[in-house]
Amino acid sequence: MKITEKLGEILHEIEEFKVETKDHLEQFRTSFVGRKGTIAQLFSELKEAAPEDRKLLGQQINKLKNTAQNKFRELTTEFEAKTESEAATQLDFTLPPIPDTLGTVHPITQVRQRIVQIFERIGFNVSEGPEIEDDWHNFSALNFPPNHPARDMQDTFFIEKNPDITLRTHTSSVQVRVMETEKPPIRTLSPGRVFRNEAISARAHCIFHQVEGLYVDKNVSFKDLKETLLYFAKEMFGKETKIRLRPSYFPFTEPSAELDIYWGLKTEADKRITKGTGWLEIAGCGMIDPNVLENCNIDPETYTGFAFGMGIERIAMLKYQITDLRNFTENDVRFLRQFSSISI
Ligand code: PHE
Repeated sequence: MKITEKLGEILHEIEEFKVETKDHLEQFRTSFVGRKGTIAQLFSELKEAAPEDRKLLGQQINKLKNTAQNKFRELTTEFEAKTESEAATQLDFTLPPIPDTLGTVHPITQVRQRIVQIFERIGFNVSEGPEIEDDWHNFSALNFPPNHPARDMQDTFFIEKNPDITLRTHTSSVQVRVMETEKPPIRTLSPGRVFRNEAISARAHCIFHQVEGLYVDKNVSFKDLKETLLYFAKEMFGKETKIRLRPSYFPFTEPSAELDIYWGLKTEADKRITKGTGWLEIAGCGMIDPNVLENCNIDPETYTGFAFGMGIERIAMLKYQITDLRNFTENDVRFLRQFSSISI
C-alpha cells in the first residue's frame, strides 16, 4: 500500500475512534501517538519513497501526527470529565453527615488561662517576653552571682557564649523587662515556656511552662504575699485549701519561701504524692531583693515588692492527678480528649 493511501486510512481511523474505557484511551495512545504506533512507522517508511515526494509526504505525516496528538488530548479531557461526573452521581446525599468534631484546648493552656483569670481578678495584667534571652535579663539583673550553678551548661541551654545568649530558664526574665520599662505600681503575671537542660522523665522535662507573678508598690509586705497566695490556692484547689510557707533560697528574693498546699493523707495515692507528709510544694516566692529593684532602676528605699513563680505542668498534674509529665507533649488524642469538657 502506498504511503498516501495509508495516510488516508489512518486519518479515518483516528476520526472514528470512540473511547469508552481507560483501556480504549490507552489503545489510542499506543496506536497513534506512541513511538511504536502506526504514524511513527510511517516516518521510517519515508526513506523508501521517491526523493522528490519525500518533502511533501513528510509534511503530510507531520500533520497527521498533530491531528492524532490533538485528538488524544481531547479524548483524555472528555474521558476525565465523564468519569468525574459519574463519580459525582454515585454520591448518596441521603446519608447522614459526618459530624464536625471540635478540637479541645490543651490542658496546659486551660490551666494557664485559669491561673491568669484568678490573678486578673485582683488586678494583675499579663506580660510576655522573648524565649531567647541575654545573660542580663535571665541571670545578672536577678542577682545571680557569676558562678551560680544555674549558669552552668548542665542546667542552661546556651545559644551563644561571651556574651551569653540562652534559652530563658524562667519567666523572671520578663519581670525584669517589665520593671525596666514601667513605673510602680506594677502588678503583672508572666506566663510562658521555659527551658532547662534536664533529662526527660515522668517528673522532669527540658521544656515546660511557668507563670510568675510580680507586685511592686509602696509598702508591699510579706503579709500581702501570703494573702495573695492563699487566695490563689483556694481559687485553684478549693475553698478549704490550707497553705504553708517554708524558708527557701532564690538569688532574687529575700526572704525567700516555698509555698506548700495541704493535700491530705487519706489514700495511698495521697501518701505517695506527698511523700508521707500530706503537703505538696507548688511555688517559689519571696520579697524582691533590693539589688534586683536597683538593677531595674526602681528605688528600693521607696518601693518594695514580692514575686512568685510556679510550674503550670505541676499544677495541672496535681489538679488532674496526672502521673507522667510526658503526657503533655506526646499529643496522644486519647489523653487530650479527656480535657474536652472540663471547665476549671
Ligand atoms: N524563678 C523561680 C524558678 O524558676 C521561681 C520564683 C519566682 C521564685 C519568683 C521566687 C520568686 O524556679
